[in-house]
Amino acid sequence: MDLPFIEPFKIKMVEKIHKSTRNEREKWIKEAGYNLFNLKSDQVIIDLLTDSGTGAMSDRQWGALMTGDESYAGSASFFRLKDAVKDITGFEYVLPTHQGRAAENVLFSALLKEGDIVPGNSHFDTTRGHIEFRKAMPVDCTIDIASDPTAWHPFKGNVDIDKLENVIKRNDVKKIPCIVITITNNKAGGQPVSMANLREVKQVADKYGIPVFFDSARFAENAYFIKIREEGLSDKDMREIISEMFSYADGMTMSSKKDAIVNMGGFIGFRDKELYNKASVYNIMFEGYVTYGGMSGRDMETLATGLYEGTDFSYLESRVRQVEYLGTMMKQKGVPLLEPFGGHAVFIDAGRFLPYVPKEEFVAQTVAIELYIEGGIRASEIGTLMSDRDPETRENRYPKLELVRLAVPRRVYTDNHMEYTAATTARVFERRDSIKRGFRIVHEAPIMRHFTVKLEKL
Ligand code: F0G
Repeated sequence: MDLPFIEPFKIKMVEKIHKSTRNEREKWIKEAGYNLFNLKSDQVIIDLLTDSGTGAMSDRQWGALMTGDESYAGSASFFRLKDAVKDITGFEYVLPTHQGRAAENVLFSALLKEGDIVPGNSHFDTTRGHIEFRKAMPVDCTIDIASDPTAWHPFKGNVDIDKLENVIKRNDVKKIPCIVITITNNKAGGQPVSMANLREVKQVADKYGIPVFFDSARFAENAYFIKIREEGLSDKDMREIISEMFSYADGMTMSSKKDAIVNMGGFIGFRDKELYNKASVYNIMFEGYVTYGGMSGRDMETLATGLYEGTDFSYLESRVRQVEYLGTMMKQKGVPLLEPFGGHAVFIDAGRFLPYVPKEEFVAQTVAIELYIEGGIRASEIGTLMSDRDPETRENRYPKLELVRLAVPRRVYTDNHMEYTAATTARVFERRDSIKRGFRIVHEAPIMRHFTVKLEKL
């Protein structure tokens, strides 16, 4: 008999969870304008709002923190970070930034101008925001099957190569300064992109002379899926897979708050010195000098260490398995989910969960609020609220899928917490027929409204 699977780590420090009552939660969420971002963290029992910056650092990372070199220029910690990035991704030139969206801001300042087109798979909302803010246009070329929540495909994050090539052919190539591939594809449900697809994208891009950038927040989870799902690659080790993945990119933006398991940080990796030089000017303006760019020396140390830990196979195996464990329990209770489960999160298909709530009343948000009231679970809405309004017509954009994301922080929760989460979801699902109305907006910002929106119960 095989012994059971165990996590490849043990716990040295713990943090108290504040348990609350249902009555308290009903009051708090109303005071929060039915916006989960407005809750205080101690009003939440299990926080699955995001896997970003919420991971637990290791003893080695905390140790590395003490060795940070806080020199303004030429910090030794920067060079340790630069070496780690080069070693793992192959990119020669590195600009640190304070997080992923800052990397996008710097890179797109150097690359984009009004009227440009940026094709890719699904752009994350900050990426889309930074593109649209420059009056350029992101084009989502994800394969069609990604919008079918129950269809099984091992690499549902893939780019549809025909769609991509059509976008390029139908437009002036000079207006396409780059292609952005998000690994894993967060907006499509944390779905991976295959090695074969990355290779094909690069072939098309090379044919037209367009650089490819990876939005690499969850590149290690992507590599793990390649190893376990893609034919012919299971014998390769993680580092070989990662090197090959990045060999198909000209550069990367990184939100280190995900797969590098740090609480804050980001960077840009470049192959091209000229582009690095151009972006450096914006980095200095927006982030900080090129050898710290918004990060302290100690944070660059924990990031350099975290890059190695986050790309370790046994860690990734326990990580992805825990997400799968949560998804499997929810599925067994009949909860409609997006499948296969993502690398960092399980996504509830809110449209099937609450079929009576009209789409104008924010179906996914309604599910997320019910999960909070039922068991103090904080999830995030990836539906109409997040899709925001069309910048031209100001009409609501209704996405193909109304999703609620349960994103699992790295090395933070135990499987008992996952069981509690699944049970909470099942309880809401059992009383789904009594939920017929959703919410109405009473206040919203002109862009990225979901962060600050205030709602009223209908
Ligand atoms: N790209 C992807 C794919 C992301 O998921 C995120 C952040 C970013 C870029 C931006 O990075 O937060 O460091 O500025 N995603 C978080 C999430 C917020 O919850 O999925 P950032």
